[in-house]
Amino acid sequence: MIHTGSLIAGELLLGSGRVTHEVRSPFNGELVGKIDMATLKDLDQAIETAHRIFHQTMKKLPAHRRAEILRKAADLLEANTDEFAKILALEAGKPIRDGRAEVGRAVQVIRFAADETKKIEGELVPMDGAIGGENRIGMVRRVPIGVIGAITPFNFPLNLVLHKVAPAIAAGNTVVLKPAEKTPLTSVMLAKVFEDAGLPSGALNIVMGAGAQVGEPLVTDPRISKITFTGSAAVGLRIRQLAGLKKVTLELGSNSPNIVFDDANLDAAATSLVRGAFAFAGQVCISAQRIYVQKSVYQSFIDKYLPLVKKLVLGDPMQETTDLGPMITEAAAIRAEQWVQEAQSQGATVLTGGNRQGSLFEPTVLVNVTPDMKVVCQEVFAPIVSVIPFETEDEAIRLANDSNYGLQAGVFTNDINRAFRLADELETGGVWINEISAYRQDNYPYGGVKLSGVGKEGVKYAIEDMTELKFIGIKLA
Ligand code: SIN
Repeated sequence: MIHTGSLIAGELLLGSGRVTHEVRSPFNGELVGKIDMATLKDLDQAIETAHRIFHQTMKKLPAHRRAEILRKAADLLEANTDEFAKILALEAGKPIRDGRAEVGRAVQVIRFAADETKKIEGELVPMDGAIGGENRIGMVRRVPIGVIGAITPFNFPLNLVLHKVAPAIAAGNTVVLKPAEKTPLTSVMLAKVFEDAGLPSGALNIVMGAGAQVGEPLVTDPRISKITFTGSAAVGLRIRQLAGLKKVTLELGSNSPNIVFDDANLDAAATSLVRGAFAFAGQVCISAQRIYVQKSVYQSFIDKYLPLVKKLVLGDPMQETTDLGPMITEAAAIRAEQWVQEAQSQGATVLTGGNRQGSLFEPTVLVNVTPDMKVVCQEVFAPIVSVIPFETEDEAIRLANDSNYGLQAGVFTNDINRAFRLADELETGGVWINEISAYRQDNYPYGGVKLSGVGKEGVKYAIEDMTELKFIGIKLA
């Protein structure tokens, strides 16, 4: 059992009347850890420290040194893969195999950041292009922006934290991180990795808090230059309202569409869409929530898909054989159950799943759904997928775009012309051809349109947003 709390300049803030919050396994309710929550004074101290260390140390730290720290952190994290996978299983209920995969991705994110550190470039402006610009030299430098406020979700407690922390360090910024209160322990372990890698004390600070209580003062504080948030659209909109002129990156939700055409490799599509819909019990922003299948192959697709879904093993995240663990809370599983029951009462058919035991919710496949059912038009964030027939390409595009969200889409076809037409027409931040919407690599621009958010992550692109272009001009005599 771990007892921890906020972390400011390497110092843990414990006791002294701070409220203690229990971290329990979403699988069996066992106590995994206790965290002492930050007071507003702690938050103020964390921001002040990050602000001071930015000006005193981080902005002056040369790129080769930042790259070296990041490289070392990646090596240390990799060496502790099993320990991190275990804490992900305990506090997030993530199946241990998926936990290892998350650590593998996280190691790569830090290595991408180390590589990018040395590529943060500026440029010369051709000043004599303007009348009167002769005898002037103009240069543009990309400079760090200061303190980054990072607010992260429970579903990838390591990798989504690193998508914010690693580019911030690469750019020479400092960070105040507020991790999800359900999964705070991974962040504290990660902070130790950075400390051991030689990150200056106070460059990465963690404040433990629940929801808006600590989050809102973090967003509004004038010493914070940028807020980067992953979470729900409702909270994202609130952050946008509060952030004023600060830069913001908001990675919000989606109800991702995946379209299977009659010329696709149906076996490959069915196999990958099992993972696409049910990895981490569907609690992934780009999870395949709507599968549109061309009518001529609709039944064959279902015949291939259902047996694969029925084979999934639901249970203890610590077991190597488990495919799906629990949802993050029993309340989340109850909400999923209610949405399925509501869809059934409106005419939907459950082909498999639909049952709940505590926080475990069976992988569920629905058919006969309509566009206005919650399981279709809202973000379901649960192991629930709807399989919907369509006739023509135009209809598939219209159905897929009929959403308030637009993060990633998957298209399965062997027609290259159709693939590019779909890539053009789908209103999402990313389109995968012959791959599920839920596939993400950490080095491409990732971020949505519509209610799915603003700004991009993917290390290089996050660095662009965590730096400012600064102009320096010289008038020659
Ligand atoms: C997310 O759920 O927001 C991110 C998904 C991923 O990184 O795979």
